Amino acid sequence: MKKMAIAPEFYSFPETSLTSSEALVLAEARKAALKAHAPYSRFFVGAAVQLESGEIVAGSNQENASYPSGMCAERVVLNFVGATHPEAKIKTLCIAVVSKFKDAERVYAPCGGCRQVISESQARQNNEPIEIIFEGPGDQLTRCSGIEHLLPFTFQLF
Ligand code: THU
Repeated sequence: MKKMAIAPEFYSFPETSLTSSEALVLAEARKAALKAHAPYSRFFVGAAVQLESGEIVAGSNQENASYPSGMCAERVVLNFVGATHPEAKIKTLCIAVVSKFKDAERVYAPCGGCRQVISESQARQNNEPIEIIFEGPGDQLTRCSGIEHLLPFTFQLF
């Protein structure tokens, strides 16, 4: 038996180190979080992507009284981009959380289901890495270059 290893890479950094366009994407994600429909969890999440054209598209989590019918912010925006800009390449995805339940020590990375959806978006652009930027720990941000760092051994059909 041969031991195999995958070593995901992440960077933790201060917000001041964002490029000016990344800072705009994060600002849009934060604005979008305020538009979340999250009466059940009170956990307001915004996600914004910047396309190769420069256009920024944002979305937020949309909960439902029938809980499984709700949708995470990342999936709202990525599925919208897939439907309305099917040929577009996504450069950056920023995720922002606004909640009194937010724990300053934690990192708010996308959930497992959203990682699979991010993976599909990246596969649609010939696996050109999407810069994924999320909040925490503390005042820091965390980033990785490509979904493979968040979802190693990704399931893809082709
Ligand atoms: N949520 C997101 O929007 N994105 C994630 O990656 C994880 C969780 C939402 C789903 C639900 O509306 C609320 O946060 C609490 O789980």
